[in-house]
Amino acid sequence: MLHQAKHAVLPQTDHDELARQEFAFTLKTHISTDVGPGTRDAAHVRVIPKFARDRGRQPQTRVELRDAMDDDPYHQMWGSLTRLAQEVMWDSVEESVARQLPELIGAARAPGKTGGSLKLNPSLAMPRYMSAVDIHAMPGGYAAEVTEDDLRAGAIFDRGTFINVCGTQGPLHDARGRTLCSYLRHNYPAFRPKRILDMGCSIGQATLAYPKHFPDAQVHAVDVAAPLLRYGHARAEALGRRIHFSQQNAETTDFPDDHFDLVVSHLLFHETSSPALEKIIRECHRVLRPGEKMIHLELGLPYKDMDLYEQVIHDWQTLNNAEPFWAKINSTDTAALARKVGFREATSGYLERSEHPEEDETTLGPKPNDTDAHPQGARVGCEVFYVMQGTK
Ligand SMILES: C[S@@+](CC[C@H](N)C(=O)[O-])C[C@H]1O[C@@H](n2cnc3c(N)ncnc32)[C@H](O)[C@@H]1O
Repeated sequence: MLHQAKHAVLPQTDHDELARQEFAFTLKTHISTDVGPGTRDAAHVRVIPKFARDRGRQPQTRVELRDAMDDDPYHQMWGSLTRLAQEVMWDSVEESVARQLPELIGAARAPGKTGGSLKLNPSLAMPRYMSAVDIHAMPGGYAAEVTEDDLRAGAIFDRGTFINVCGTQGPLHDARGRTLCSYLRHNYPAFRPKRILDMGCSIGQATLAYPKHFPDAQVHAVDVAAPLLRYGHARAEALGRRIHFSQQNAETTDFPDDHFDLVVSHLLFHETSSPALEKIIRECHRVLRPGEKMIHLELGLPYKDMDLYEQVIHDWQTLNNAEPFWAKINSTDTAALARKVGFREATSGYLERSEHPEEDETTLGPKPNDTDAHPQGARVGCEVFYVMQGTK
């Protein structure tokens, strides 16, 4: 397994737990690199030719192709393996977190050293799009709490998401933040934000990049789920990054108007409902200073940039992996939404993942031709991101 950076609250593994996690990691890697690409052959060699023979025309929509693919044994095998691997992955992480939860909670109570902070709001109402579903089949979802100062969901998320993308986001799993920092540094070299807000920060994996690359900025990070924030705060302190975490709904935060020079999010949009998405973009507009920017990084890609086969593969997440809003974000023109709510300009495009923000020349461009369709696998969501940027 690739190396994950150790810190005070990362759940440790005994021999058997590590063996099971290694198995989940290897299975996921095998499915995304070896098994997944065969579904394209299934579509083009068997399913589409049969559809054309039976109906006298090509499939016109992703629903038509999806229905036809559902009967293909190889595609069924891929889907069944992919869902199984997801469950095996969470199980393998959950058992080691359960074993050491009291110690992890104890470690998280240790005072921080960086001057970062954690502000929780126990009376915050959980949006229904969060409480009604265990997103990406993570047991208990993001917000379940069964004990005092619970951070179980954060610990599961840290280890599980590392395994889920086969370690491709780096030892700290911060590649999404590094990529946006690289983009900002390369394209706006004079930009020196004083205040940065990360919305839907989860455990602050991507947030970690901002205090590193903009050390003079005050970095804030909000999420609705307390267990993620408790864990994220302890993790950031252990890693020496000063971040101010608070439990807030990104649709309506308590920050003043015109407060931030930069608002970012990473993988938030594909986990919110349509009404929430518009409210979140409006909130970005409210809290940004005039002339300043928001940038949102996603792994939900526009259907318009995909062939029908890729659309079917992305749809699989919506229908089978507890990602109910994924199809919605793939059909939403978020830049148009930003202009509608008042952003002076808004644009979108693709960014290659950056490993070294100080050196990489990260620019917004069209979708790379060789982008693989498998969202949990090879390129999309691991090496290529979809980004929407707006200026107030
Ligand atoms: C996929 S995770 C984000 C991961 C994180 N940004 C990263 O890249 O490391 C999506 C997060 O958005 C949060 N979220 C969803 N809707 C939200 C809202 N309205 N306000 C704040 N957080 C929200 C969820 O609790 C979850 O932690």
